[in-house]
Amino acid sequence: MKAKFLFIIALFITIAAIVSSCQSESDMTFNRYYTSGSLLYQTKCQNCHGMNGEGLGQLIPPFSDSVYLKKNITKLPCFVKNGASGPVILAGKTFNSKMPAQDNLSAIEVAEILTYVTNSFGNKLGLIDAPKVNADWSNCN
Ligand code: HEC
Repeated sequence: MKAKFLFIIALFITIAAIVSSCQSESDMTFNRYYTSGSLLYQTKCQNCHGMNGEGLGQLIPPFSDSVYLKKNITKLPCFVKNGASGPVILAGKTFNSKMPAQDNLSAIEVAEILTYVTNSFGNKLGLIDAPKVNADWSNCN
């Protein structure tokens, strides 16, 4: 009886250990993307979109509009690769300017940048990884 009880406790501890190590693995992946993304953001996006993703007046949209980002999450990789233009409403303001294409960035770099952007400035949309970016790129129009 006692042995069975100890076995159940041991089993429970093992399962708890497995579950928590899985979690920390995905946390580590997220942290890796996020940290690299914050550095890339500084060199590739910050000049225009600002250090705090605040944008610039009527010219450059901010990244504070979580609803927009979430709704367009599969299009973000295309915007970076092909540029973006035309009227877009972000954070309640209309922008009608032009973002240059950056087609020199790899899928992993774009994934890192977008993980940073969509989890900073008040956003919390989770990991965007390289396979996701590749899949989204194949659907750019
Ligand atoms: C040279 C300035 C510039 C740089 C650098 C830049 N952007 Fe932009 N971005 C803009 C402008 C201007 C717009 C608004 C375009 C429009 O009116 O549709 C924009 C729009 C966007 C949008 C909204 C999409 C849309 O339809 O307008 C996203 C998302 C975005 N940028 C992400 C990024 C990311 C991520 C980077 C870094 C890889 C980046 N941008 C670098 C100027 C820039």
